Amino acid sequence: MTGENRAPVTVIGLGMMGVALAGAFLNAGHPTTVWNRTPGKGDALVEKGAVRAGSVADAVAASDLVVVCVVDYESMHAILDPVGDALAGKVIVNLTSGIPEDAREAAEWTRGIGADYLDGYIMTVPPAVGLPETLLFYGGSQETFEAHQETLKVLGGNSVYLGADAGIASLYDFALLGILWSTLTSALHAFALVGTEKVPASALLPFAEAWITHVIVPTIQGSAQQIDAGEFGTDISTVGLNAMGLVKMIKVSEAQGIRPDLMVPIKDFLAKRVADGHDADALASLIEVIRNPE
Ligand SMILES: NC(=O)c1ccc[n+]([C@@H]2O[C@H](COP(=O)([O-])OP(=O)(O)OC[C@H]3O[C@@H](n4cnc5c(N)ncnc54)[C@H](OP(=O)(O)O)[C@@H]3O)[C@@H](O)[C@H]2O)c1
Repeated sequence: MTGENRAPVTVIGLGMMGVALAGAFLNAGHPTTVWNRTPGKGDALVEKGAVRAGSVADAVAASDLVVVCVVDYESMHAILDPVGDALAGKVIVNLTSGIPEDAREAAEWTRGIGADYLDGYIMTVPPAVGLPETLLFYGGSQETFEAHQETLKVLGGNSVYLGADAGIASLYDFALLGILWSTLTSALHAFALVGTEKVPASALLPFAEAWITHVIVPTIQGSAQQIDAGEFGTDISTVGLNAMGLVKMIKVSEAQGIRPDLMVPIKDFLAKRVADGHDADALASLIEVIRNPE
């Protein structure tokens, strides 16, 4: 593939992710300029045809689309603030992880310097950058996303625009990461539990996989429907029944000699719903405890 008719792009930040981003642009034939704080990174990219800019100003001048992927927003500002004037009229696509407030402040800052801004989240690891199924979330200017989506889809075929709030992509990122962290650690708790009887994790795994597919996924799907409907009736499994189960889960974990900590807040959430008179509700109603922390 040649670089003809492909928009030039600049990638700032050549860590593990930045290298993957620049590599995907090069593979798709985009003339790609790269810059990194510590010089000397990205040799393989240069061998593949990337231009290594000698300064941030040169990197920004090389392309109208400037992709930034560094460790945090402070680093992004440390790099871009000194060349603010040169960013006027450019599109900044910030793929640096932060929190929604970081993104909103960055969007405000770019408005002040006359640049367009998209705040994105790469929902995968570097080797999956550039695949058709790879998911990226974007928030910020819809016009900017639509104008550049063909180029952005080079980084992941499933690039999704979520809304004008620059912070929305970060919120979706944390929503999905929370599912990852809680399901993974719950699986670790399960492996530890059977491991107390010398059962290898691999022996539980097929049952865990089937359980996730046939029980947990449908339960989450049903919960989403109930949450949106605001209706928590059930004739399948109640808060009261599960409240008793969680008390036993803590006892079993302790009796088998492992930490029960992960399960304790779930027990407490269920106990609160029972105490508030909602023992006949479905598990989805625990969202009311999460929504009302006091
Ligand atoms: N890796 C992943 O699996 C993954 C997945 C999704 C999202 N992300 C996000 O992508 C971003 C980059 O991650 P990464 O995996 O590429 O991290 P990394 O390999 O640790 O690279 C960090 C990058 O940030 C730069 N940097 C650090 N401190 C800086 C500073 N004070 N001033 C200027 N530049 C600075 C580094 O430059 P030097 O080389 O000069 O240190 C390097 O380019 C993060 O926000 C991360 O959360 C990563």
